[in-house]
Parts: sequence; C-alpha cells; structure tokens
Amino acid sequence: MPLLAPARYKAAFGGRGSGKSHFFADLIIEDSLKHKGLRSVCIREVQKSLKDSAKRLIEDKLTEHGIGTADGFKVFREAIETPGDGIITFQGMQDHTAESIKSLEGFKRAWAEEAQTLSARSLALLRPTIRAEESELWFSWNPRRKTDPVDLMLRSDIPPTGAAVVRANWSDNPWFPKVLEQERLDCLRDVPDQYDHIWEGGYATVTEGAYYARPIAIAKAEGRIGRVAADPLMTRRAFWDIGGTGAKADAAAIWIAQFIGREIRVIDYYEASGQPLAAHVAWLRAKGFGDALCVLPHDGATNDRVFDVSYESALRDAGFAVEVVPNQGAGAAALRIEAGRRHFPSIWFNEETTRAGLEALGWYHEKRDEMRHIGLGPEHDWSSHGADAFGLMCVAYEGPKARAEVPGRRRQRWVV
Ligand SMILES: Nc1ncnc2c1ncn2[C@@H]1O[C@H](COP(=O)(O)OP(=O)(O)OP(=O)(O)O)[C@@H](O)[C@H]1O
Ligand SMILES: [Mg+2]
Repeated sequence: MPLLAPARYKAAFGGRGSGKSHFFADLIIEDSLKHKGLRSVCIREVQKSLKDSAKRLIEDKLTEHGIGTADGFKVFREAIETPGDGIITFQGMQDHTAESIKSLEGFKRAWAEEAQTLSARSLALLRPTIRAEESELWFSWNPRRKTDPVDLMLRSDIPPTGAAVVRANWSDNPWFPKVLEQERLDCLRDVPDQYDHIWEGGYATVTEGAYYARPIAIAKAEGRIGRVAADPLMTRRAFWDIGGTGAKADAAAIWIAQFIGREIRVIDYYEASGQPLAAHVAWLRAKGFGDALCVLPHDGATNDRVFDVSYESALRDAGFAVEVVPNQGAGAAALRIEAGRRHFPSIWFNEETTRAGLEALGWYHEKRDEMRHIGLGPEHDWSSHGADAFGLMCVAYEGPKARAEVPGRRRQRWVV
C-alpha cells in the first residue's frame, strides 16, 4: 500500500519470495496504462543479456492480466512498447558512462532490481538523471550489507525526501507459493544461520571461517550484548586501529572499554574512513572519553615506526595518556584473534553503541584457498580495522593479567 501512492523514491527490501519483483512489474504496467507515453527503464548493475532483466517477468504479467497489443503494449526483442508511444527498456548501469546516461533524461520510472549490487557510482549517475517532473526511482533488493550504497541511501536515519521504504518478507506475500514454503522450512532446518539473511531480509553474515560468529551467538544467548553503562570511577580505555598514515589515512576503528574485575565491558565503538586524527579525537571528546587511556598497536607487520610515533605524540599533544602495545611480529593477527576468542566469554557489550563493531566482528573471516582448502589468514576488508582494534583490546587485557585495578587509578604501565 505505501508504495502505490506517488513518491520520488519507492523501495522494497526483504527476504526471498516476498513479492518485490512481482509488485514492481505490476506497477510498471499499471503506470504505463495510466500515463500515456510513459518511458521506464529497468536497471541492473550488470546486465550481460536480457535474461538478467525483468523483461520476462513483465511479459508474463502482461499475459497473466490479458493485456496485449489492443491495449497498446507490444513486446519487442529488446524493449516493450507501451500505450501512447511509451517504452520500457532494460539496461545495465555498468554499460553507462556519464555521457550515455543522459539518454535516460525524460524517463519517468527507473526500477533497479537486485539493488544491493548497485555501486555508489551507479546511484550517483542515476539520481540526477531521472529528473522529469513526477519521475520516480524504484529499488527492490535483498539486503546484503549495511554499508551497501542502496542501504546507506534508503535505510539510514535520514533517507531522501519523499522516500517510501518498505520491508517485505515472505509472510507479507499473500501469494507465497507452496514450493517456496518448503524451501523456507528446509533452510530453517538445514542452514539456520543463513535463514535470517535469506528469508527475513537480515544482513548477511559469513559463517564459514568467521572467527567470532560463534562467540557472538553465545554472547547474545547469554545476554552479554545488552545494556552496559560505564563505571565513572574506572579507567576508560580506547583501543585503536589506524589503517594508514598521514594524508593517506583511511579507516580508523576505536573500541572503548573498561577492565573491571574479570570482565571487559565494552561501552562504545567508532569507525571512520578518510578522516584526519583530529576527527577521531573530536569524537572521543564529544562522547565524554576525553580522559580515556589510548592504547595503540605497535605491529611491525602492518604499521611502520614513524607512523606509530606520530600518532602517539599527536595523541599525547592532545592531552591523552597513551600506551603502546609492543610489537608482536609477523603472527600478530593470529595472536589477536586467539586472544579475542579466549576472552570473548568475559566480554559484555553495550548493544546500542557497539552495533557497527559487532557487525564487523561477525563478518571478520578467514580468506580461503578454495582449491587446496586451506586458510590464508584473515581477509583484509572493511571489517579488519574493527576486528584488529578488538584483538588489540584482548591482547592488552592479558598483558597486565595479575593486576587488580584500583578505582580512580588513571594510568597503567604496560608490563610485558
Ligand atoms: N502480485 C502477485 N500475483 C501473483 N503471484 C504473486 C504476486 N506477487 C508474488 N507472487 C508469487 O510469489 C512469488 C514470489 O514473489 P517475487 O518473485 O516477486 O518475490 P521476490 O521478493 O522478488 O523474491 P526474490 O527475493 O527471491 O527475488 C512469485 O513467484 C509468485 O508465485
Ligand atoms: Mg525478485
């Protein structure tokens, strides 16, 4: 219903078999009947052939509704002619350049199917091109990652003005077929950890080779992901990972935690990319962590000396106490993962502020050589910064093992 009224953006996301494709295929036919001469384009990020497009589905819908040439629809090899000299075409965004996309100006409907694969470039090309009065951009997709461009655009706190965004699942589809119902039940039985992603529209998690998938599931089940408040008398620690140097600084991740008794209480998480150190410091201060003890990695495998020293001194200059975890050499990543898994059972997370960090941890996984079935160490991707900083926290927790922290004590020295 919310997608029937005119809207600049119409979006339906969710799991398999929720009727997303059928809905928009019907709507494009309806709109073509209603507005004579309507030009529409069905879009995929990659369309190698028309088989990859929604063309066949629209044709089937026309047949199903008994709509044909008498009504002004005519199916051609590459396109469908619609009443009043309108058209529905089928295109792949990757075949377009900034120049060629201009051919779509004047189109009033653009429907992107499988929109989770749309690149940021494609969205940036598409949005200003579909500019005719009362034009609409439609998106249907099965969510994959929170950071996919379509999710960032339509599911952030501030979606574009005039957006109608709907979550749709199998349970919302009154025509949900029996065959799919059986598929769904089998999935629930055979691959329960994929079920939420495939059928309920949840973001994908890597299960094979994911270092923290199990410990996270256990933490959830044990209620260790919930509400964790900071203890005002205990040291707040900020565990850093910085993924670049100077002007090239890319991603930074920071976990804020307190070591209390035998527990690590994680109270916040931050990540940013392409931002200078000042931005990270500003976040710490804004969140009330201006007095945090900053813990930096000194990892010979990934960071060079100069870089550590510069961050360390910059943070000191900004008034922070800084601790540097000694160089762990080539096996550093593995040591961090081991420490992370060992201590996971004693870690508590404040869910609301650490969601992005938990997502990174859930994704962080081993790169695999499919031919030889061997692990190649952690995959270096968007999740590694968060996971590295997390591992650093667990390594640091082990360092001063025997010490019992005294409330109010602000500075700790690293003991090897
Ligand atoms: N309007 C409709 N009329 C008749 N049947 C429908 C309609 N909408 C959905 N269905 C039935 O529900 C099934 C699933 O719908 P559809 O293929 O549109 O789902 P989807 O959300 O696009 O799924 P996927 O994520 O797998 O692409 C269809 O194969 C069809 O059998
Ligand atoms: Mg579909």
